[in-house]
Amino acid sequence: MRIAILKERAPGETRVAATPETVKKFIALGATVAVEKGAGLAAAITDAAYAEAGAEVGTAAATAKGADIVLGVQAPDPTSLKGVNAGAWVAATFDPFRETARVEAYAKAGLEALAMEFMPRITRAQSMDVLSSQSNLAGYKAVIAAANQYGRAFPMMMTAAGTVQAARVFVMGVGVAGLQAIATARRLGAQVSATDVRSATKEQIQSLGAKPVFVENVAGIEGEGAGGYATEMSEEYQKAQAELVSSHIAKQDIVITTALIPGRAAPRLVTDAQIATMKPGSVIFDLAVAQGGNVEGSVAYQVVEKHGVFIMGYSNTPAHLAADASALFARNHYNFLSAFWDKEAGRPVLDEEIGDAVRLTRGGEVVSERLKG
Ligand code: NAI
Repeated sequence: MRIAILKERAPGETRVAATPETVKKFIALGATVAVEKGAGLAAAITDAAYAEAGAEVGTAAATAKGADIVLGVQAPDPTSLKGVNAGAWVAATFDPFRETARVEAYAKAGLEALAMEFMPRITRAQSMDVLSSQSNLAGYKAVIAAANQYGRAFPMMMTAAGTVQAARVFVMGVGVAGLQAIATARRLGAQVSATDVRSATKEQIQSLGAKPVFVENVAGIEGEGAGGYATEMSEEYQKAQAELVSSHIAKQDIVITTALIPGRAAPRLVTDAQIATMKPGSVIFDLAVAQGGNVEGSVAYQVVEKHGVFIMGYSNTPAHLAADASALFARNHYNFLSAFWDKEAGRPVLDEEIGDAVRLTRGGEVVSERLKG
């Protein structure tokens, strides 16, 4: 059983899919691990550290040669996987709804693509969930980046020269990233409020010491919904939400948006007209910019100034915390494969619940139900 870790080739990607810690653990399971030279450098992991952990460190071709499993952060182009064994597994994020041509190419190449973002939201898969591990860091980084852009302080400060007011931070979308954004903004001393379409988040917002701002009189999503995810809301709800946001946002200094709907473009939550009501110097960080954006006018990797308000967002926020993001991503991979490790077979054997959820291609076909229907 040979596991290969290649250097990530997507522009701006700094993460790596294994760390010396997980390399050691895979070897302890009986696997051989090969790592491409320089794969960890952007995440502050040297080739020597991988070698010390027991990995073979070599060229891309030597690393891929004879691999049974390739681990990635973003799925590599299948043409770069020549030399892997027939039917090899590739576990990574695939962006399957948008990168349909790549999924087809994996099927054609006879590879088994395992999309880590399709990990089901069940308790036993929590430690394998890359969306959670990476969103958590992204929520933190969004607040730090917004604070850096903001020309004022976050905490209230009483000084001899007078009082500095606490910043008002509004978090829209309280999933994993939003919760961490609330916690981070609170730690920095801001006054925080937050909103979501899922009623279950109200209590979570309060437990972090923030104020919930919710649409009343129009039903949102009660309970946890399907796998804890949001769906597209009714027109009536969207209208009520827009009114609520309009009255609240004008008083905010920082807005962090994190709202996503799986398989669809991100919902538009902040319009240009609403931005125009904010104070000059306010900052909006759009964490959904890569999925179409929650904020009108947001552009990935640019700070756009509109009506004196800074609108910003990175298309790959976890890549801005490469070392921690890699460490967590690598553990997600290890937790996934080790949970299914079959000692006799000397390799992982997936069960139906998780295997069928994450598997996109097998035996030359696209097999994922989510992609078919
Ligand atoms: P996500 O990244 O899909 O979306 C972010 C947030 O945006 C969600 O809270 C969603 O409700 C909200 N949202 C969507 N449309 C909105 C709109 N129009 N207005 C305002 N907010 C909107 O969600 P994420 O972070 O992946 O988490 C969703 C839930 O799944 C959470 O409750 C989380 O605790 C749960 N979860 C469970 C896991 C497990 O059991 N293995 C793993 C990860 C998350």
